[in-house]
Amino acid sequence: MSGAVEVNGEPVTTLGTKADPAVDVITVNGRPIRSEKKIYVMLNKPKGVITSAKDPQGRKVVSDFLPGIKERVYPVGRLDYDTEGLLLLTNDGEFANLLTHPKHHVPKTYLATVKGVPHGTGLEQLQKGVMLEDGMTYPADVEYHDVNMDKNEATIRITIHEGRNRQVRRMFEAIGHKVTRLKRIRFGELGLEGLPRGKFRHLSEQEVKMLLNEARKSHKVQK
Ligand code: URA
Repeated sequence: MSGAVEVNGEPVTTLGTKADPAVDVITVNGRPIRSEKKIYVMLNKPKGVITSAKDPQGRKVVSDFLPGIKERVYPVGRLDYDTEGLLLLTNDGEFANLLTHPKHHVPKTYLATVKGVPHGTGLEQLQKGVMLEDGMTYPADVEYHDVNMDKNEATIRITIHEGRNRQVRRMFEAIGHKVTRLKRIRFGELGLEGLPRGKFRHLSEQEVKMLLNEARKSHKVQK
């Protein structure tokens, strides 16, 4: 099908002309095309849920937890099946790209419960960077959150500035501790406070702006 496309009243004659439906008026044969409203939500993902829109094996997926959301939203990065906590979802591709782009390093904070109690030296290693299969990690912020000697386990609060696959689990494995529970509690300045497990809420305009600003100001840390 062909049609006369205009952007802001100007005919488009060049292939690859860029237009943003959020700000430009785009018409095809004189009729404006409707752009979907941009939405941004934060879900407190339970464990045992896949970060994807559909699962061929019929397991629970994050969209099952977004009743009433008609727009097709995509996760901003991933959380493992067994990881719980803060997951952002949006239909704004530019926002998602900016926040997950490897050049930007929006900090993400997790509570990691591990088998055994890591020594201070182990945690120092995580702070400095550890060697994983896919290279050294950037320095992380790490502190004890809770130590349970009876259960022989510890919960560590860790903030990383990257988003590699299973990164937190692999970092703890590198210092000899298996992660038994992992929960993301912060994404940039945004916290999970007050949002019950399995529930979502819309982000405010201010929160969206804050995340965009954080992504733009965070620069690649030199290795
Ligand atoms: N690190 C992990 O190991 N898993 C996640 O889901 C997120 C960060």
